Amino acid sequence: MKESMRISLIVAAAEDDAIGRDNALLWHLPNDMKHFKNTTWGMPVVMGSRTFASMGSKPLPGRFNIILTRRPPAEAPEGVWYADSAEAALRLAAGTQCREVFIAGGGDVYGQFMAMADRVYLTRVHARFPDATVHFRGFDTAAWLLASEMHFPHDDKNPFDHVFQTWQRG
Ligand SMILES: NC(=O)c1ccc[n+]([C@@H]2O[C@H](COP(=O)([O-])OP(=O)(O)OC[C@H]3O[C@@H](n4cnc5c(N)ncnc54)[C@H](OP(=O)(O)O)[C@@H]3O)[C@@H](O)[C@H]2O)c1
Repeated sequence: MKESMRISLIVAAAEDDAIGRDNALLWHLPNDMKHFKNTTWGMPVVMGSRTFASMGSKPLPGRFNIILTRRPPAEAPEGVWYADSAEAALRLAAGTQCREVFIAGGGDVYGQFMAMADRVYLTRVHARFPDATVHFRGFDTAAWLLASEMHFPHDDKNPFDHVFQTWQRG
């Protein structure tokens, strides 16, 4: 068994793999936001500079925010570390001594970490978004084992049926 830090992608993707448009999410699903928070709390979270900008450049509280950018600002806000390569991001994450690092998007960044990921936390949103401009590409389930799955029907706060899946590298 690998003793090093586990590399996990965490993503919410529609049935057509859509994840974003106009540097924003495609839905408001509080249940998924809670799932993201519960899963990543206390851990290093790596994201691209566009995803960070889409959050108003505000770090996620209670997590090590590692932001990938080739143009790091001179000063980092509290709770933020900048990395200028995927390797640098993983080195920073390893320095936290946490057992797992979460790759939190967006499309560009997921693509770079897909081949080295050990686990994927996938929220599959049961809807399609033909106008989306960013997608979760290259996730071939034939190479992965479904370890767990929890279904949630839509309700008054969450407009789409969705399922939380955990995939392990097969
Ligand atoms: N549904 C979901 O789960 C989910 C999750 C996250 C994001 N999203 C959505 O995804 C979209 C954003 O994704 P995106 O693909 O446009 O952008 P992104 O992946 O968030 O960020 C791309 C940027 O990250 C930096 N970067 C990427 N790889 C790097 C590397 N190896 N070294 C240094 N810097 C690197 C570059 O920033 P610089 O230009 O600063 O150098 C690049 O322009 C938004 O719509 C967002 O809402 C969806």
